[in-house]
Amino acid sequence: MPIARTWSVALVGMDAHLVEVEVDVATGLPRFILTALSDRVLRNVEHRVHSAVNNSGETWPARKITVGLLPATVPKSGSRFDLPIALALLMAAEALPAGALDEWVVLGELSLTGAVKDITGVLPSLIGAYKAGRRKFMVPRTNYGEAKLITDAEVVGVGSLVEVCDWLRGEAPQPTTRDEEPVQSSDIVPDLADVIGQPAARRGIEVAAAGGHHMFLKGPPGVGKTMLAERLPALLPDLNTDEAMEVTAIHSVAGLLAPGRPLITRPPFCAPHHSASTPAIVGGGTGIAAPGAISLAHRGVLFLDEAPEFGPRSLDALRQPLESGEVTIQRSAAVAKYPCRFLLVLAANPCPCSAGGREPGQGCICSSPTRTRYLGRISGPLLDRVDITIELEPVSRAVLENGARGESTDMVRERVLAARDRAGHRLAGTPWRTVGEVPGPAVRRRWPVPRDVTRPLYRALDRGNLSTRALDRILKIAWTLADLGDLPRPGIDQVQEAHALRTGYDVATLRIPA
Ligand SMILES: Nc1ncnc2c1ncn2[C@@H]1O[C@H](COP(=O)(O)OP(=O)(O)O)[C@@H](O)[C@H]1O
Ligand SMILES: [Mg+2]
Ligand SMILES: [Zn+2]
Repeated sequence: MPIARTWSVALVGMDAHLVEVEVDVATGLPRFILTALSDRVLRNVEHRVHSAVNNSGETWPARKITVGLLPATVPKSGSRFDLPIALALLMAAEALPAGALDEWVVLGELSLTGAVKDITGVLPSLIGAYKAGRRKFMVPRTNYGEAKLITDAEVVGVGSLVEVCDWLRGEAPQPTTRDEEPVQSSDIVPDLADVIGQPAARRGIEVAAAGGHHMFLKGPPGVGKTMLAERLPALLPDLNTDEAMEVTAIHSVAGLLAPGRPLITRPPFCAPHHSASTPAIVGGGTGIAAPGAISLAHRGVLFLDEAPEFGPRSLDALRQPLESGEVTIQRSAAVAKYPCRFLLVLAANPCPCSAGGREPGQGCICSSPTRTRYLGRISGPLLDRVDITIELEPVSRAVLENGARGESTDMVRERVLAARDRAGHRLAGTPWRTVGEVPGPAVRRRWPVPRDVTRPLYRALDRGNLSTRALDRILKIAWTLADLGDLPRPGIDQVQEAHALRTGYDVATLRIPA
């Protein structure tokens, strides 16, 4: 009997590798040999394929079956090769016409009954196959919407092995899948108008959104820290086409796409709980590492609520990804890479007791060293990446009851988009797109600010009240404030306000300690 082949795709992190599936059915004692670098799920492929073939009315060849997945050096995992292996096997057994799938790339898990089940990572797999010149894709019907995001390709969604066999034998037409009605987004996006008071924090998230600055919200429980963080993504611009595909591809690998609305066009929000494991946060797991929260937040917002409660290992593991916008996860099976360029928002109560940091005497039982140690859990190197720190105070009863609503998300977003536009023009031709991405020293050197504007900063620097790094951060925020105010460059007012946003002083005072 001849050797038959089909094509599929192995996914290592976000990297797709075209795989040739070879099946040899030869005389010899009936056995099934898989020659591939594989994980546990893939090693059990025989059981799934055997049952699926039998339960689809096909005959399992009682011979020596050898399955090869090439190139052999690429690690392979999961159940995505079930369908291509079953089809190559039936071709090798001459139950299906040879060569019928030479132009197709096939992906799909088989249930024991022969149904084709959805898999993760379809979009990045097909993007890779497309780049390798492939234009015909067979995928599980439940992944059809996602696969169709590749325009300019022929996509067939299949529901069962029977359906595919009937088609390939010419006994039924090529399976079709109706385009699903695009599901209207029904998510209620929380609005900034709901946040009462907190002018400093409202200003802070506007600046964070405009410049892409990481921020830290400090304050007792119930003052609106979580409310504010959740309202940050809605202030950011839509993802462009490339970003949307990249973000969708990451969520595809994680198996998190909404079936009726696969393409993600808005910046995501990801808020892992502090009890989450380090692999859940930065990526990992058995076999080939899966993306973690930092990658699910790619091009959006990563919110670490109660940041001091996160394990030191997790917080430490954020440093390198924050620096490079990419995370590399080494496992014995393979090295996986995922993008992770996110806006970081940290929130913390000032102390660990349930009074949550109201002044000692107001129910807080923590000593001063306890309070210092608590916030100290967030390491210096991590805080060094944070441009904006806001200290929130409880909103007074009078203000709450008066209930005056603040500006809405739409109003603030308009200013944010205009500011991003201005920054975009200034940054054209550089590797950076937002002020937040620009390294501090580069801001100082490339876009100098008049001496009389920066004089108070340099005076504070000379007296040891300010570090060079802090000075650079203040200048960055000052530039974003200038962008928000439609000014050609920051003036004294912007530097003053930037200092307040940097250090957590109340914006109202705006004083740099001399
Ligand atoms: N500034 C505020 N404006 C309106 N509601 C608020 C404000 N602060 C707190 N709340 C109310 O208190 C609840 C808890 O707020 P939350 O943002 O979770 O506080 P925190 O994260 O600071 O503990 C909110 O769901 C909201 O109902
Ligand atoms: Mg909270
Ligand atoms: Zn306390």
